Amino acid sequence: MRNIMQKTLIWDLPTRLFHWLLVVSLLAQYATAEWLDNAIQWHFYIGYFTLFLVVFRIMWGVAGTQYAKFSSFVTGPGRVINYLKTLFDRDSAPSVGHNPLGGWFVIVMLVLVAIQAISGLFMTDDIFLDGPYRQLAGDETLELMNTLHHLAFDLLLYVIALHIGAIMFYSVYKRQKLVPAMIHGNKVSKTVGIAHSRLLRAIIVAVIAALAVYLAIEVYPPAPQVDEYYY
Ligand code: HEM
Ligand code: HEM
Repeated sequence: MRNIMQKTLIWDLPTRLFHWLLVVSLLAQYATAEWLDNAIQWHFYIGYFTLFLVVFRIMWGVAGTQYAKFSSFVTGPGRVINYLKTLFDRDSAPSVGHNPLGGWFVIVMLVLVAIQAISGLFMTDDIFLDGPYRQLAGDETLELMNTLHHLAFDLLLYVIALHIGAIMFYSVYKRQKLVPAMIHGNKVSKTVGIAHSRLLRAIIVAVIAALAVYLAIEVYPPAPQVDEYYY
């Protein structure tokens, strides 16, 4: 710990890329499901990419840099309650990484996106395209996955609204601008941040995550049943 304020790297590049790619992917998933006609194939592809993003972030939460690690922002209820007591205190010191409440928000968002992507694998558009695990699902499972796919997205919308609301609250009420740091990575802080983004490690983690998703959607699922009706 030093006492002088300095500009220091907090969010590594992989975490920042993950964040903005996740935002774009979720918008694209909404657009391909709700607005665009005949875009379900794209919905599947972008869904696989979103699954990759989640798998990558979970692995990066273990193997990434200091402030990206779950161990740095997933805290017990005591710290969350203490943080809540200072929530409306305009002079409370800004958190270097995620604050104890925001840390749990990250987990909730990751879990919801994971549920969304995994339930999608079991679904069908009832016309041409089946998700890769459609054959494994009986009627009840299909129904459950369908419900989860809709429910998780509705919940995700509320959580995202809260997330953006919280960022505006920090900006307006607490005068803490969080967004620039999610873009360029730096914060002005007394604490020394991370030395670099560990890009080589991130690439290795990304390759393993991509391989895991490839195995899960291309290798592991049973071969699709050819429906004679369409041939
Ligand atoms: C689809 C919409 C969004 C989703 C799903 C989302 C999700 C997330 C997630 C998962 C994190 C944690 C990052 C990590 O540690 O990996 C995060 C952090 C963050 N997001 Fe978003 N986000 C969304 C939209 C936005 C938007 C529109 C903004 C800017 C206006 C934004 C600004 C931020 C900031 C500043 C942080 C860091 C918060 C902190 O300092 O603790 N997000 N977001
Ligand atoms: C995390 C990524 C995903 C998001 C955010 C997402 C979002 C959505 C949304 C908002 C809908 C519309 C629901 C409604 O009508 O209320 C939908 C429908 C659907 N999704 Fe996803 N989805 C994702 C991943 C996937 C994946 C990976 C697959 C399949 C491999 C998939 C397959 C489907 C299917 C088949 C439908 C129904 C389309 C229809 O009714 O014709 N989704 N999704």
